[in-house]
Amino acid sequence: MAHNPFIQFITLYRNDPVLFVKEVLGVEPDDWQQDFLTAVASGERKISIRSGHGVGKSTTASWAMLWFLLTRYPVKVVVTAPTSAQLYDALFAELKRWVKELPQPIQDLLDVKQERIELKASATEAFISARTSRAEQYGRISYEESVGEEDRRAWRDRVRYRTYLSGNDNRTLGRVHRVF
Ligand SMILES: Nc1ncnc2c1ncn2[C@@H]1O[C@H](COP(=O)(O)OP(=O)(O)OP(=O)(O)O)[C@@H](O)[C@H]1O
Ligand SMILES: [Mg+2]
Repeated sequence: MAHNPFIQFITLYRNDPVLFVKEVLGVEPDDWQQDFLTAVASGERKISIRSGHGVGKSTTASWAMLWFLLTRYPVKVVVTAPTSAQLYDALFAELKRWVKELPQPIQDLLDVKQERIELKASATEAFISARTSRAEQYGRISYEESVGEEDRRAWRDRVRYRTYLSGNDNRTLGRVHRVF
């Protein structure tokens, strides 16, 4: 079989986001960041991170999103935040910053847009999409972008939703506080 560097890449990193962060992004995750990445890789579906400001939550989420996008296919990652400022100025900005840390041949596979990062070769099948957190936005991604109405049921059976929540628990009301 011909030598294929992408198969090697996926074999190496598909189940090991910590190694992906160290070797592909060239940064050393803190212990708690490693714990988060390992929990994601093990298939944990509900993870919350409660912390103070500036410790690296957006960073870790960005690492997880890039690892997932680059080691799976098809792959549809949706990311949200309570306000569009938090989503675009903080989280998505951090994500784009980490795209620039990827080796150039991998960056060249990606199309970085204002609200999406797509695999150039398959923009509708492999992407990270930023959505403000309105329920109908999720409906749209579930039903239209994924497979279309006709095989909605098949798709629902196949897909496992995973939710990761991180934040500063600085209010005693609302959904974030109830989770923590
Ligand atoms: N393991 C790490 N090694 C080096 N730098 C890191 C690491 N983790 C995070 N950083 C850097 O720390 C800074 C803060 O990270 P980040 O913005 O992800 O924190 P945050 O917890 O999301 O902050 P906020 O509470 O303001 O949302 C960023 O400049 C980021 O690149
Ligand atoms: Mg943040």
